[in-house]
Amino acid sequence: MEKSFINHLFKSPIMNAAGVYDTTYEELDLLAGVEGLSLIVSKSCTLEKRDGNPEPRYYHDRICSVNSTGLANKGYKYYGEVAKRLNSKLELSGKKFIVSIASLDGITGMKQMITYFSGIDEVFALELNLSCPNIVGKSQPAYDFEQLNLYLGILTEDLEKPWGIKLPPYFDNCHFQKVASILSKYKPSFITCVNSIPLTLHIDPDEEKYQIAPNWGRGGLGGACIKSIALANVQTFRQLLGGDIPIIGCGGITRGKDLFEHILAGASMVQIGTQFYKEGPRKAVSRIMKELEDHLEKRGYSTLDEIIPLCCREI
Ligand code: DHB
Repeated sequence: MEKSFINHLFKSPIMNAAGVYDTTYEELDLLAGVEGLSLIVSKSCTLEKRDGNPEPRYYHDRICSVNSTGLANKGYKYYGEVAKRLNSKLELSGKKFIVSIASLDGITGMKQMITYFSGIDEVFALELNLSCPNIVGKSQPAYDFEQLNLYLGILTEDLEKPWGIKLPPYFDNCHFQKVASILSKYKPSFITCVNSIPLTLHIDPDEEKYQIAPNWGRGGLGGACIKSIALANVQTFRQLLGGDIPIIGCGGITRGKDLFEHILAGASMVQIGTQFYKEGPRKAVSRIMKELEDHLEKRGYSTLDEIIPLCCREI
């Protein structure tokens, strides 16, 4: 089920969400071998290697997941080396490699990482993660609009590769409008909506303890229960930005029909996180693709590019 995205035709609309099966070479190699994945995204990286937050730092149940990994990663140069090592395997299967860059090290740290990855041809694009919710005592640049403007002004100065931003969920019209006007100024190659819903609390009532250890049990919410929030963010940015900036929908995809809903809301591609943890990436992708194909056939579509978002249809 082919999909066009940033001037390329990919074999499917599916990518992994940053942070899922993508911290080590072995995990990324596994993703590179998954039939039906089109792009592979690395764990958000920082200047230095990090062990991250204390365990347990991930939990899921039937409807949700909560994570507070605390940016555990191997340090940015590792992901440049992984891109080179995996390149022939990725090329053979028509996949591309995206590096996700965390904002923990501030503008100068991010700039240093961008300069390094700009020199690595095997890295197709960069996803600037301006919405990491799990660093105790640090705010997300994407929730501070002055900072967002400042970060993008400096980070995108000499950026020649395709680049995008991972955005947090927004919940207010005035916030959507402010972010959209900043995005229109810097014209990213894509935006990803949404990162996990920050600072949610999950308590085990039987054991009287938090489900995850860091930050008084608070972590980023994902999984089926965030789908409606993700869809609304995709749709609102699709309306405010027009079709100029492709949107990667992320949040709550567990079945083929969820993926279809993201496309109806305005997404060009999708990322899947929690469901990869629950089912394993290989099984999840093949099942979701089969369900999507069946549904598209039922609806009379022969390609994904034919689908017009609901908000763009004449009533
Ligand atoms: C982490 C979580 C995120 O949602 C994110 O965008 C980046 C990092 C983490 O806890 O590692």
